[in-house]
Amino acid sequence: MSATSIYSPAADGDGAPRTIAIAVEHIVKRYGDFEAVKDVSFSVAEGEIFGLLGPNGAGKSTLIRMMTTLIPVTSGKAIVAGHNVADDPDDVRCVIGVIPQALTSDQDLTLQENLSIYAKLYGVPRAEREKNITDVLEAVDLTKWRDAQTKTLSGGMRRRLEIARGLVHNPKIFFLDEPTTGLDPVSRIAVWEMLNKLKTTRNLTMLLTTHYMEEADKLCDRIAIVDHGTLVALGTPVELKNSVAGANVVEVHFDRETEEWEERLKKLEGVTSVQPESAGFYRVLTTSGSKTTMQIVELAASLGETLTSLSVQNTTLDDVFIHYTGRQLRDEQVKPVNFLMPPRPGERP
Ligand SMILES: Nc1ncnc2c1ncn2[C@@H]1O[C@H](COP(=O)(O)OP(=O)(O)OP(=O)(O)O)[C@@H](O)[C@H]1O
Ligand SMILES: [Mg+2]
Repeated sequence: MSATSIYSPAADGDGAPRTIAIAVEHIVKRYGDFEAVKDVSFSVAEGEIFGLLGPNGAGKSTLIRMMTTLIPVTSGKAIVAGHNVADDPDDVRCVIGVIPQALTSDQDLTLQENLSIYAKLYGVPRAEREKNITDVLEAVDLTKWRDAQTKTLSGGMRRRLEIARGLVHNPKIFFLDEPTTGLDPVSRIAVWEMLNKLKTTRNLTMLLTTHYMEEADKLCDRIAIVDHGTLVALGTPVELKNSVAGANVVEVHFDRETEEWEERLKKLEGVTSVQPESAGFYRVLTTSGSKTTMQIVELAASLGETLTSLSVQNTTLDDVFIHYTGRQLRDEQVKPVNFLMPPRPGERP
């Protein structure tokens, strides 16, 4: 069965059907008794940037590894550019570029050498290799570093080198596993801009994983939210946000925490949910940000309580994630590290 017959392709702007680049149908990955991916289905249209958004251990890398032929599928199927990954892995490998989660370019080699090895591995003819390397280095803005050792690059530059490496054989479909994890906010935005440009100039379809809400929101045409190996929601960022009751989020910080705040906030007109964040700090989903704000101010004044801060925003993907999973997915899930105090003997740093 061909990829296009499994899923009706989404129509593009003028109503014409779009070709399906990736079709995943009831895919399952089991490690012994543990199901890392549980019956997931979705399709990605040609030219889309599609995001798999989920917390650590959700199954994002496992999904990518199956789609890119790195691990076998337990059941179900993945069809990439019309080829079933189980039946035609070599055909799949020829048309995809893969950026794994870990940085894997060789630190002791130059950029040119790292790219050249990959070009050879992918069978790029000798006559085209130098031109391809020149093109991809230019595309990721690393031309002048061509003969530098990879270990002299910053984290953001190394990520860009990995992106260049994934493109050196001119793939049509690009898989990126957490392309900006560990980068500072400025480098992260630079990578987003680069990926957007590459999508257009190289006519690429991209599937990326991320646990950054903002990344999914800004970069992806459509997002699949994955949690505990299951796909819990799928849509454009706007569709996902609209699927959550309450158009606005009011963030309120009371000077003093009392047990009653949550119940009091829930009773206000238009409030659809209240999420306690920390002592005295609540995220309130409401159908009317302005009304709820007024009511919170009046409530605090009538009780003689002080508000430390109050802000109104539109619903975010964070709210979408809470809505579908009952938990939060914070952008930064890294434990804070105390750089000032050295670890005590016997204590893990
Ligand atoms: N080879 C393996 N053997 C057993 N369990 C595995 C194996 N690989 C992954 N898992 C488990 O499958 C689950 C999904 O892992 P996966 O690496 O796909 O998550 P992820 O969403 O990519 O997480 P992260 O954001 O941390 O990269 C985890 O619970 C993980 O421990
Ligand atoms: Mg992963």
